[in-house]
Amino acid sequence: MENFQYHNPTKLIFGKDQLAALPGGVKAYGNRVLLLYGGGSIKRSGLYDKVQELLNEADVQVVELGGVEPNPRLTTVEKGIQLVRQHEVDLILAVGGGSVIDCAKAIAAGSHYKGSAWDIVMKKTVPTSAVPIGTILTLAATGSEMNGGAVITNWETNEKRSFGSIHTYPKFSILDPQLTYTVPQDQTVYGIVDIMSHVFEQYFHASENAPLQERIGESILRTMIETAPKLMKNLESYEHREVMLLNGTFALNGTLSMGVKTDWATHMIEHAVSAVYDIPHGGGLAILFPNWMEFVASKNPAKVAQLGERVFDISREGKEDAQVASETIAALRTFWTSIGAPSTLADYNINDEKLDLMADRSMVRGETLGSYVPLHKEDVKDILRRSL
Ligand code: NZQ
Ligand code: ZN
Repeated sequence: MENFQYHNPTKLIFGKDQLAALPGGVKAYGNRVLLLYGGGSIKRSGLYDKVQELLNEADVQVVELGGVEPNPRLTTVEKGIQLVRQHEVDLILAVGGGSVIDCAKAIAAGSHYKGSAWDIVMKKTVPTSAVPIGTILTLAATGSEMNGGAVITNWETNEKRSFGSIHTYPKFSILDPQLTYTVPQDQTVYGIVDIMSHVFEQYFHASENAPLQERIGESILRTMIETAPKLMKNLESYEHREVMLLNGTFALNGTLSMGVKTDWATHMIEHAVSAVYDIPHGGGLAILFPNWMEFVASKNPAKVAQLGERVFDISREGKEDAQVASETIAALRTFWTSIGAPSTLADYNINDEKLDLMADRSMVRGETLGSYVPLHKEDVKDILRRSL
């Protein structure tokens, strides 16, 4: 293992009807709230009215900003910063999925910085403080509810980039499985793929001797594979929604990355594809991950084979690692296809026209990308080509 420090300050408030904890959570930070939400799902589900009611009863002053896009944009972050400054907001309350929460994080850090918030996203400056954030999560996927990371898109330059800070961890996050009942079938699938992909990004690390982290990751994957098909048959099952919700949080709250050099190449490639074509994050991952795995297995199949044996119950008897790895990738494709995930970029009408631009935008970490098998730009192009 590598040396590490771990500090996760987010208070998780998990379970049925836990929205009741909202006034107390907010009041601990002040009286003026920026209520941030997306394109209207919370109005359709009735959650918006409930939140307003709870805040009114608690005499909290509310300023609101709706319309946060899936793949949230810098322009919306800038609007939020203006509102925070104008109304001297004490807490940003993000009600929605990862996009709304990420947008809140960029507003929170950007409000305490004199220059453009894009400097923070591009890591030209490191946040030294931020407006406190609270979240009410409505979609199990990103883990943003219990981490300090945020992904923001600059549509003018076709760049989708991420930053993270200890100051942008939510102070509290309310997770009630009932609030995820209305997540439609396609977004539920994207969430499942995203959660599993977060495990892969940390499972395929470049460090020695991390059996506990790997076993925890395998448990999350096995639980997802067990739960997802049942959930797809009954989207309003409390039992399956609660399992998925907790899995989503654990897949990216720092537990799996303790002491290991994680990979994240596939996420960087997906962000580049989304930055050029604005596709759903989980959809992009479903297409790219099996192709990434195929590429890295051709260089180093051992870990892919381990995944196959421990998670997909593939027998290793009498087989080389390469054979087991190839069966593992086939099993992953079959599983994702069975729940309705996309499998080629053509599913989003993407062809090879902007392949070079996407490969270029993927290389955000210098000459190489990822750590399990470091990729050069040509390798990224190869993976994108396999994904067409
Ligand atoms: O905008 P509204 O109307 O709320 O609708 C959303 C949106 O259209 C809808 N939705 C959310 N909750 C719902 C619901 N619809 C019905 N009922 C509900 N309860 O779902 C759509 C997608 O929402 P979004 O927030 O975009 O999805 P997700 O949570 O998957 O977030 C994706 C974003 O997070 C980034 C992605 O790149 C992408 O920009 N990521 C953030 C990470 C992080 N901060 O740690 C890590 C991830 O790897 C990821 O990159
Ligand atoms: Zn993700």
